[in-house]
Amino acid sequence: MSALLIEDADARELDGVMAVMERAFDPCFGEAWTRGQCAGTLLLPGAWLHVARLGGAVVGFAIARIVLDEAELMMLAVDPSARGRGVGARLLDRFAATAARRGAARLHLEVREGNPALRLYARAHFASVGRREAYYRGRDGRSSAALTLARAVEAPR
Ligand SMILES: CC(C)(COP(=O)(O)OP(=O)(O)OC[C@H]1O[C@@H](n2cnc3c(N)ncnc32)[C@H](O)[C@@H]1OP(=O)(O)O)[C@@H](O)C(=O)NCCC(=O)NCCS
Repeated sequence: MSALLIEDADARELDGVMAVMERAFDPCFGEAWTRGQCAGTLLLPGAWLHVARLGGAVVGFAIARIVLDEAELMMLAVDPSARGRGVGARLLDRFAATAARRGAARLHLEVREGNPALRLYARAHFASVGRREAYYRGRDGRSSAALTLARAVEAPR
C-alpha cells in the first residue's frame, strides 16, 4: 500500500480539494464550502492548506488560519474511501504543528453538534468552549448547533 503523505499546499491543489469536499460532506447539513469560499479563504492573511496524499491522489485536506496567537482549523475532510485509517488524525496533528511553528498559543475549531468528527477532536484533547444555536442550516431547512472547541497548541501528554 502506498504511504500517506501530509503536505503543505496552495490553491493549485483546489481541484483535488474540491473532489474530496464534494464526496466528504452530507449535503443535508450544509457544511461543505464552494470552490470560491476555499479560494477566498486561502487568500486571507495567515491562511494555509495541507493536503493528505495517498498514491498521488488527494484524499484529505485541512484549511486553517492564524490571527495573532490563535489558530483556527476552518475545514477538515477526508474522502469516504480513505476514512478510519488515521488520515484525519494526521491532518489534525499537522495543523497543530504548523500552528505552533507560526506562533499560535491556542487552537480553535467549530463543528456541527452530532458530527462523528467530535470523537476525533476529543481524542486530540479538544474541549468545548462555546455553542452557537442553529448555526448550520441544511437543505431540508433543519438546523444544527455549532460547537466551538479549543485546546492549547501543545496537547497534554
Ligand atoms: C472527520 C473526518 C475528517 C475524520 O477522518 P478519518 O480519516 O476517518 O479520521 P481518523 O481515521 O483519524 O479517525 C477518526 C476518529 O473519529 C471517528 N470518526 C470520524 N469520522 C467518522 C465518521 N464519519 N463516522 C464514524 N466515525 C468517525 C473514527 O471512528 C475515529 O475514532 P476511533 O479511532 O476512536 O474509532 C472524516 O470523517 C470526514 O471527512 N468527515 C466529513 C467532513 C467533516 O465532518 N469534517 C469535520 C468538520 S469540519
